[in-house]
Parts: sequence; C-alpha cells; structure tokens
Amino acid sequence: MAQKKVSMHILCAQEEKRQEMTLDFIASENYIPASVRRLMGSVLAHKYAEGYPGRRYYPGCGIVDEVEQETQRRALDLFLLSARVWGVNVQPYSGSIANLAVYAALLKPGDTVLAPALAAGGHLSHGSKASFSSKIFSFISYGIDDAYRIDYHALRRLVLEHRPRLIISGASAYPFRIDFKKISALAKEVGAIHLADISHYAGLISAKQYPSPFVYADVVMSTTHKSLFGPRGAMLFFRKQYEAAIQKAVFPGLQGGPHMHTIAAIGEGLLYAKKHRSYYKQVMRNATRMAQQLSQKGIPIIGGGTQSHQVLVHTAAVGMRGDEAQELLEQMGILANRNMIASDMSPQNPSAIRLGTYAVTARGMKEREMDRIAESIATSIRTGVVSAGNIKTVATLCKKFPIHK
Ligand SMILES: Cc1ncc(COP(=O)(O)O)c(C=O)c1O
Repeated sequence: MAQKKVSMHILCAQEEKRQEMTLDFIASENYIPASVRRLMGSVLAHKYAEGYPGRRYYPGCGIVDEVEQETQRRALDLFLLSARVWGVNVQPYSGSIANLAVYAALLKPGDTVLAPALAAGGHLSHGSKASFSSKIFSFISYGIDDAYRIDYHALRRLVLEHRPRLIISGASAYPFRIDFKKISALAKEVGAIHLADISHYAGLISAKQYPSPFVYADVVMSTTHKSLFGPRGAMLFFRKQYEAAIQKAVFPGLQGGPHMHTIAAIGEGLLYAKKHRSYYKQVMRNATRMAQQLSQKGIPIIGGGTQSHQVLVHTAAVGMRGDEAQELLEQMGILANRNMIASDMSPQNPSAIRLGTYAVTARGMKEREMDRIAESIATSIRTGVVSAGNIKTVATLCKKFPIHK
C-alpha cells in the first residue's frame, strides 16, 4: 500500500487552526508570544554548549553564555530574589527532569521523601509508582482533608513518624493556597529539605496573586510553559548552599547539552511575564467567576471554589464521570481534562474535570465570557448533550478572541 505523504508544515497549520477554534481550559497549557516562538526556531538551536557560562566544553560559546546569564538574571528578577542568596539553573529540559535533578542532587538511594499524593493533586514526578524516581527513593504520600485542603495535622504526624530527607510542596491539581511557611517549619523540625514545585502557580506568585515559597523553601522548581509565557522547559532555584549539588545533577548528571534556543525563549517569556502582571489578576478573576457561575448553576466545585487559576468541577456529583465530561465538552470545542479526586479509586474512573484559566485569559477573555462559557458547560453536563447553541457560543468566542500571534 502506498504510504501517504505527510507534511509537518501542513500538520502544524492544522494544529494552529484547531487551537484557534477551541477554548483551552487545560490548566497546564498556555500560549506563547510570537517573540518567544521566534527564538525557539532560531539559530541558537544549532549550538552545543555542555557546561555552564564560562565553563563550557565547546568553543564558540561567548554569545550563548550571555543568553544563559541574562535568562538567569531575569528569573531571579521576576521573583525579586537576591543573587547573593539564590541561584537558578535554567537548563532542565522539563519539569519532571528538574524534579529528578533535585532528588539526584540532595538524596541518597533509599532516602524517604514526603510528597503530595497524585489523587490529592500531586504530580507523577512526585514519586508516583509509575515514575522511575519511586524505584530509587522511598516516597510517602500526604493527602487532603474533607474540605479538600492539605491536611497539615496528618502531614505533621507523617513527618514525625518517617523523618523524611525531603518534603515536596506544590501540585498539579490543587486550586487552593499552599501554606509554604508551615511546610518549611515542619521540614525544619526534622532537618528535612523543602522543595516547592510551583509549576502551576509561578506566574501568579510573581504577580503576588498567590503565596510565595521563596522566603521559606530551600529549592524551588517551576516549569516555564504554564504561566510564564515560555516554551516547554523548567527552572530550578536553589539557596546557595545547594548550588554545587544541583548544578552537577542537571549537567552532567541527567542532561547533556542545554537547549540554548529554549533558554533564550524562556528569558523572553520571563520578560513578558514581568511586563504583564495585570494578566495574572484577570486569570484569578476568571477562575473565581467560573467557579461561582458553575456552582450557582448547580454544578458542585470541589473544595467550594478556588484560590488560584484552576477549578476542580465535581461532575460525578451530577451523574457524569470526569472522562465522560471531558469528551462531552470537547464535542463543543471546550478542552478540559479529567481529574481524579482524593476519594477516587482509579484513574480510569475519575470524578472530576479540571478547568484552568491561563489560556483563555491570554486570549483576552474576562468575566463576561466566563459567564457565557459556564452556562454552556453547566447545561451540557446537566443534560448530557451538547446543543447547536453551545457549539455556536464557543465558535463565536474563538473568533472574537484570537490567540495572540
Ligand atoms: C506540579 C508539576 N510538576 C512537574 C510537572 C512536570 O513538568 P513536565 O511536563 O515539563 O515534565 C508538572 C507538569 O504538568 C506539574 O504540574
């Protein structure tokens, strides 16, 4: 049978159209500005630069040294960190690798780590059975209480019982404020290190819309693509005493040549984030509005609302599994992913969907648009069908609010 010829450029154009014509409520996704995309496709991708600025294993690295140093400066500047106290590594290829680098740097095989449970909003890289890290280190999960807030009392009991070497705070599906101060205090009680994984909240933190862990934590990890207008990548902030161990764990421990085009694009994204602080306020307003509207229309919200960019919608409470709701919403062009909640026994049978407002806010949408979208979501979840009117609403909004180019 003759193989069909496929053009990557045609596929990319099709994907661009798909993105234009859908409303992206996937809490971990966002759009990157054209200036960031240009750097991703730039000649910087040609350069090998193993090592760190001033200490490379290749010639011709003068300019990429400046690129990396400037991105480091912008990263520290965004969070108002003193370069005397904090350093940052901008080379990790992704958030999962950055978390692994922290474990590799600061733990010995078999060491105990306390981390948020997957079903309580934690990430796979926080020691899930499916993650390679769980084969090397001994992860113990902590959870949430009936109000869907971190159960700090239970966490303290676990800390005292297991005396972990590392405690992780931060999550992928936890809409509420995290008490980083409390977690650091617990870590101090047993001499543990505190890693805050702020991948989901970083932009909000930079704009003072969410509590900052920097005063308390020892190491802070963030991906760059969710809220910082960067390409896919990650940054590892560390207090100076951990510098040597973290740097060595990233390169040569886990990675080879840094992706200089990505690092330049991260730097550009960080500048954009700094210039657009008001965006994060609107992200919060949109999430709050979405939670209020859905709740008023009889769709329960896990934990009663939100204190961030994300909302966990308890679809099972109105008779629809999270995966069914995900499919239903996709039929009208709304993308939101299924999500387990703490009481769920299996990822195959999730009770919720997670809605995030980074991407729709980047398109310029505000409370008025959230009201219209919430109406469409609520009616289709309640009735189990998508109406022609719902589909039209989504298409109209997509056309009215194009993705920035
Ligand atoms: C809290 C958290 N940490 C780490 C990661 C991993 O990032 P990546 O997908 O870049 O490996 C994610 C990704 O969603 C995340 O939400």
